[in-house]
Amino acid sequence: MAINRDWWKNRIAYQVYPRSFCDGNGDGTGDLKGITSKLDYLKDLGVGVVWLSPVYRSPMDDGGYDISDYCDIDPLFGNMADMDELLAEAKKRDIRILMDLVINHCSDEHPWFQKALREPDSEEAGYFWFRESAGGPPNNWRSMFGGSAWENVGGDRYYMHLFSKKQPDLNWENPKLREKLVETIRFWLDKGLGGFRIDAITHIKKMEGLPSGPADGPDGMVGCFAYTRCIEGIGDFLTELREATFDQYECMTVAEAAGVPNEQLVDYIGPKGYFSTMFDFSYSEPYSYGHGWHTCKGPGEWDFRTWRNALYASQLFTQKIGYGAVFLENHDYPRACQKFVPEKDHSPAVQMMLGNLFFFLRGIPFIYQGQELGMTNPSFTSIDVIDDISTKNHYRVALADGLTPEEAMPLVARYSRDNARIPFPWDDSENGGFAPAGVKPWLPVHPDYKTVNAKAEMANPKGVYAFYKEMIRLRTESEYAKTILEGKFAPILKQYDKLIAYTREGEKKLAVICSLSDKTRKIKLPFGVKNLVLSSLDSYKLEGNILTLKPYQSVTLEIEEAF
Ligand code: GLC
Repeated sequence: MAINRDWWKNRIAYQVYPRSFCDGNGDGTGDLKGITSKLDYLKDLGVGVVWLSPVYRSPMDDGGYDISDYCDIDPLFGNMADMDELLAEAKKRDIRILMDLVINHCSDEHPWFQKALREPDSEEAGYFWFRESAGGPPNNWRSMFGGSAWENVGGDRYYMHLFSKKQPDLNWENPKLREKLVETIRFWLDKGLGGFRIDAITHIKKMEGLPSGPADGPDGMVGCFAYTRCIEGIGDFLTELREATFDQYECMTVAEAAGVPNEQLVDYIGPKGYFSTMFDFSYSEPYSYGHGWHTCKGPGEWDFRTWRNALYASQLFTQKIGYGAVFLENHDYPRACQKFVPEKDHSPAVQMMLGNLFFFLRGIPFIYQGQELGMTNPSFTSIDVIDDISTKNHYRVALADGLTPEEAMPLVARYSRDNARIPFPWDDSENGGFAPAGVKPWLPVHPDYKTVNAKAEMANPKGVYAFYKEMIRLRTESEYAKTILEGKFAPILKQYDKLIAYTREGEKKLAVICSLSDKTRKIKLPFGVKNLVLSSLDSYKLEGNILTLKPYQSVTLEIEEAF
């Protein structure tokens, strides 16, 4: 029977951060049993694909993105029987599970690395990037979590790690290593997995000769992107991988593929692409982190048009090539409201507008847990509760640059990845129903959990949850579903600042118009309006072709004619 390669396209995807979704065994950490117990919640929301952040065995240096056994479940999350149960229960509900495939690096506690350390001449030593270098690291690359990308293991011997020093990079040049990875991928696909979200995959090829570069900071080091991202020759590895694994299964793959130049997009997600789809990060951060968080521009300070152009360019280009994956939030960012809108303007209606903005773009939407409840950052006030390795590094950099802890803490509260990693609030009981009363969750629950929680949201017909349900219905079951799925994307009304507006043209013609202005404004529409499909606020005003939008309002309209 022919393999259906497109089964995922008309589904809604949802990212679960397992540590924080639901604690099934009462130890304060979310787990697989917890997730299984909430499948009905996901089904009811309209979810058809669930991406689980890593649940493999891991020392949790980077929240599980440091794997010490690719074919086992970490006891924190349960065991293999729990995973099998989750897969079976999800299948009954027609939900397909994606695991996170972290194969640019593993953990330094992986037996391969342990053996490589002990026996420099072993086969396993060849799975990593060991180099001999007298008098300092082999080059001046800076790792993504700060400091040199090389760690010394005694004498002149170093290994490369683009992320933390507990995440040694795997050496894809080694055919034996590639064979091992293929085996593990097939192990999971044979279990009936829906596929994978593939982590940091554009980094697997390193620049020939591992050259140093001109320093870009006072530490004398250079960011490793230019030398380790989308490097020529990466396609050979990815083609081999696809042929040996994904091609042979009815699975989907969504790549975390930062930095892919437009001209290479076809290789990634074209008809014969390495992956089914991918996340594009060109517009996910309106600010650039630069040297550290203290150099970032806050909401309202970065250039709106640059951000908008990046979003439009991504949509326009991707639709020529394949089908993208769109997202507003994930486990690596603070909540979207905080990212895109100044604090003084935050409200559930603003979150609906942001949801509307991304949800009808062309591509499969990924909702990040809690986004559908309108969760916000919890306003961390102490670095002591932070778990995230990247946050700790940014905090260190800020202090090293002369900020006081009092100055650095608001940056943590604004940018930390832990903002999105706190427990999911299910109800207004102690711990938000995430973990049993009396148990201390691994990260604190949101101070607003008594009002912002799944139970309260589900009972609120005007809440963010209801808005998401309606967007999901429109995308999957309504007369507009086909248009939202396949319709052509085109930006419109570009003359207006602080406005994201686009048409989707297929069987029907839709216009999505989202204002990011804090003022009421009038927009002159260049088309007739047939129907209001959705509005983030109760009312909207249209007189002739003049649309009045209240601050941060979005509308989706069925229109007469797009242009
Ligand atoms: C990806 C993950 C992130 C992780 C990093 C290293 O970017 O999304 O959470 O820290 O890879 O594995």
